[in-house]
Amino acid sequence: MAILFHESTKTFHLYNEQISYIFTVLKNGHLGQLYFGKRLRDRADFSHLLEFTPRPMAACTFEGDLSFSLEHIRQEYPIFGTGDIRYPAFSMERPNGSRIYDFTYQSHQITSGKPRLEGLPATYTESADEADTIAITLYDQVTDVQLLLTYTIFRDVSAIARSVRFICGKESAKLLQALSLCLDLPDDNYELLELTGTWSRERQVKFRPLESGVTSIHSMRGCSSSVYNPFIALKRPETTEGHGEVYGFSFVYSGNFLAQAEVDTFHTTRVLMGIHPQNFSVALQPGESFQTPECIMVYSEEGLNGMSQQYHTLYRTRLARGYWRDRPRPILINNWEATYFNFNEEKILEIAEKAKALGIELFVLDDGWFGKRNNDTTSLGDWFSNLEKLPNSVEGLAKKITDMGLKFGLWFEPEMVNKDSEMYRTHPDWVLGDPERNHCHGRNQYILDFSRKEVVDNLYDQMCKVLDCGHISYIKWDMNRSMSEVYAIGCPPEKQGTVMHNYILGVYDLYERLRTRYPELLFESCSSGGARFDPGLLYYAPQAWTSDNTDAAERLKIQYGTSMVYPISSIGAHVSAVPNHQTGRISPIETRANTAYFGTFGYELNVNTLTEEDQQKIKAQVAFMKENRALFQFGTFYRLQSPFTHEAAAWMVVSEDQKTALVGYYKPHAPANEPYERIRLMGLDPNLCYRVSLNDTLCGGDELMQYGLITSEHAVKSPDLNTVLGGDYRSRLYRLTAVE
Ligand code: DGJ
Repeated sequence: MAILFHESTKTFHLYNEQISYIFTVLKNGHLGQLYFGKRLRDRADFSHLLEFTPRPMAACTFEGDLSFSLEHIRQEYPIFGTGDIRYPAFSMERPNGSRIYDFTYQSHQITSGKPRLEGLPATYTESADEADTIAITLYDQVTDVQLLLTYTIFRDVSAIARSVRFICGKESAKLLQALSLCLDLPDDNYELLELTGTWSRERQVKFRPLESGVTSIHSMRGCSSSVYNPFIALKRPETTEGHGEVYGFSFVYSGNFLAQAEVDTFHTTRVLMGIHPQNFSVALQPGESFQTPECIMVYSEEGLNGMSQQYHTLYRTRLARGYWRDRPRPILINNWEATYFNFNEEKILEIAEKAKALGIELFVLDDGWFGKRNNDTTSLGDWFSNLEKLPNSVEGLAKKITDMGLKFGLWFEPEMVNKDSEMYRTHPDWVLGDPERNHCHGRNQYILDFSRKEVVDNLYDQMCKVLDCGHISYIKWDMNRSMSEVYAIGCPPEKQGTVMHNYILGVYDLYERLRTRYPELLFESCSSGGARFDPGLLYYAPQAWTSDNTDAAERLKIQYGTSMVYPISSIGAHVSAVPNHQTGRISPIETRANTAYFGTFGYELNVNTLTEEDQQKIKAQVAFMKENRALFQFGTFYRLQSPFTHEAAAWMVVSEDQKTALVGYYKPHAPANEPYERIRLMGLDPNLCYRVSLNDTLCGGDELMQYGLITSEHAVKSPDLNTVLGGDYRSRLYRLTAVE
C-alpha cells in the first residue's frame, strides 16, 4: 500500500495489492480523475487516460483552446461556475450573492494511518501501517476559502475513505451543498444497485440500468431510512454474486443523504454522495470550517460478494469499536412481541426464568417500562420506572434477572417525547417545529431537538440514573418516526439550515458519552425496525435491529439485502411466534431459526406459551448457536442464491481456515415433482475434501464449488435438528467439515 506523488506530472497514485486510485492536477489547477479500479503498475504519467476534444457549445477555460472544457473532463470535486455544468459536488454562496468559486491545487500532505473525524463516525486504523492518508488543499484565491479533500487507502481492503473539509477564509460564506464524494467514471455501462423498501420491507435488492440523466436515491426524513439505505453500487450488467466488476459507495452517516449517478450524453458517469442539500445550509464565519461525513468506496472484480466482503471486513473490524467488536453476541430474548405493553414484573420474571432454563443469555425489556406508558400515547421523555407495572422499579427487576444468571437489557427511545409527559410539560420548547404552525406527530410522538446541548444533557442524565444501577448490560435505542417540521426554537435564523445535521451530531454525542461511561454496554440501534441501519450508527452500536418483520420468508429477503453492506455480526435477527405478527404466516420453528442464525441471534416470543416440544427445540437451537456463533458472526459470508430471483435461496459462512462452513438453504414454496437441484458453493478450499452433513457425503471443495452441493430433497440422508423437509417454508443447514 502506498500513496505516490509524481512531481513531474503532478499525479497522485493511491494503491494497495488490489486497487489503484489515480488523479492529477489539471492545467487549470483543478483535480482531474484518471482511474479507479483494479491495481495498475505505477507510472509517472497517466495523463493519456484523459481525453480532450473540442465539443460544440462547451464552455472552455482557456482562450484559443477549444478542447479544455471541464464539462468533458473527469474531476475529483467539481465546482459550479468554472465551466462544468453537470451536477457539482458542492455549492457555496459569498456575501455578495455570487456562487462562483474556483479551487485550485495548493499543496498536499501524506501521512501514515488515518486521522479521526472529530464528532463524526468514521473508519479508523489501529496501527499506522494499516492505511495511508493524503489530504489535498485546494484554494480559492478570491475568497481565501480552502477545501481539504482527504483520501485514505487501506492496506487490507479494497476501499478508499473520502471526506471534505471547507475552511472559510477572510470573508463569510454560506455552504448550501457539501457532498462527500464525486467519482467520474469513463463509461456508463452499469446497473445501479440500491437497497430500497419501507417499514417491514427494508433493504430489498433492486437493480436499474443507468440511463442518460440522473438516477438517484435519497433520504430527507432526518434518518437514513428504510426507504433507501445510504448505499449504492454500480455493477457491470454481467456481474453476478461471484464474478465481475462492481463499485460500492457507502455513506457513514445516519441522517439525510443523496446518492446519484449522472450519465451525460457522452456516456460518462458521475457518482455523487453526501448529505442531502435539501434543508441544509451552513453559515461559516471567517476561520470557521465544516467537515463532511465520510464515504467509503469499494472496488471489486469478484462480484457482489467480493464487494460485500470488503465492507464486512472494514465495518466489522475498523468501524465498529470497543468491547463487543470481536466478541460473539449474547443470545437474547426480547419481550416486545411476547407482551407488547401488557406486562408486569411477574410476567417478565416468568419469561426470564424459562429463558434462562433454555440457555438464553440476555433478557431485553422493550417499550413500556417507564413513566405511565401502557400504550404509545404517553410518557416518552420520562425515563423513570413505571411503578404500577414494576413495583420494584426497573432497577429492581434488572437485579432479580441478573441474580438468575441472565444479563439484562433495556429499551430507550431517547430522541422522542409524548405531549403527555413530564418532559413535555416542563420543556414544550424542546420539540422541533415552528411554534406558529401545526406539528405532525408520528405514532403520537414528537421529536426532541437534539441539536440543543441542554436536551442531550437531559437525556444523558436521565439515562445514567437508570444505567448506574449496574445491572444493565445492553440498550436497544429506538427511533420511531421521520422528521417533518424541522425548525429549532431559539436557534438563530442563519443556523436553521444546520439543525438536521446538528441533530444527528447530538445523537452521536449522546451515544459517545454513554459508550465512554459504560464501555461494556452493548448497544443495538433500532428505528421502527431497520430505518436507521447505517454505517454511522455501527460506529456506536455494533448491532442493529434489522426489521420489525420477523417472518422467516420475509426476513430472508431483508437479511439478504442487508448483507450487501453490513456484516452478519451487525444483523439483529430473532425467532418469533407463529402465526407471525406481521404476515400471519406459519413457518416451522427450525426455518425461523435457520434464518436468524445468520445474525445476532435471539427470540422474541413468550417461551411459556410454547409446547414442550418447541421449548426443547429452542434449547437445542440455543446450544447449537452457542457452538457456532463465532463462525456465523465472524466467518466469511457468501450469498449464493437470491430469494429475489430464485425459488430456493441459499447463503453460507466459511471459517477463516476454510475448514468449516455452514450453508443455509431455504425454499418458501413447495413445488410438486421437484426438479433436480444443486447450488454452487463459494469460498471453500478446492484442494480439501469436506464431509457434508445431511447428505452423508464426502465431496471435494472443487466439486462443491464447480458442480455444486446437491440440494434435491431425496439427497438428504440424515436430517438433524435444523432440517425441515417437505412442504412450504422448508429449510436446511448443511455443515461442511474438512477431513484429512
Ligand atoms: C419499534 C421497534 O422496531 C420494535 O422492535 C419495538 O421496540 C417497538 N418500537 C417498541 O415501541
